[in-house]
Amino acid sequence: MKYLFEKGTGRKFILLHGTGGDEYSMVDIAQHLDPQSTILSFRGEINENGMNRFFKRNGLNQFDIPSLEKETDHLLEQITTISDEQGINMDEWIVLGYSNGANIAGHLFLERQTELNKAILLHPMSLGVDSRTEPLKDKKVFLSYGEEDPIVSLDAFKTLENQLGTRGTQITEAHTEAGHQITVKELEQVKKWLSDLE
Ligand code: MLT
Repeated sequence: MKYLFEKGTGRKFILLHGTGGDEYSMVDIAQHLDPQSTILSFRGEINENGMNRFFKRNGLNQFDIPSLEKETDHLLEQITTISDEQGINMDEWIVLGYSNGANIAGHLFLERQTELNKAILLHPMSLGVDSRTEPLKDKKVFLSYGEEDPIVSLDAFKTLENQLGTRGTQITEAHTEAGHQITVKELEQVKKWLSDLE
């Protein structure tokens, strides 16, 4: 996978963009959250009419589950390899995903055993896969939802929240008055969540 790695002295973020983004799309947000951060930012390998994604879909919110499974394995392998190369433990990372990137990250937390244990999922939704039962008590996840979101329904958001929550994930939730976009206000809430991690 194509990725950008920039070593800093602050928090360590894995960045996963939304549909049509690339490895640069989330960098400003990571720097807003922590100007000194280490950044590992991936480009999704699926090309949908020129737009990068992390897994295939067959229309809006019609997810291709075999592609999702394959790409989730691939992403986890890449994260593991790069972490080894850079001498970074998996539990040091904070995964920061938006939309399609948040969705693959949510799937990874739910459906793979991983030492990754912190995630900021901006405007995610359930992808309808929920096959595991192991506890996720070690995981801390920030979730945001836009009240006017034309893509993510409250039901799809709440389903994801319940999937994570019933297995013990420590969840912090932010609702915005906006749509699918990331707002300054929710990033302020993310900053507070980050400061509470210590
Ligand atoms: C998107 O457009 O990225 C959707 O909101 C989510 C997805 O397709 O994973």
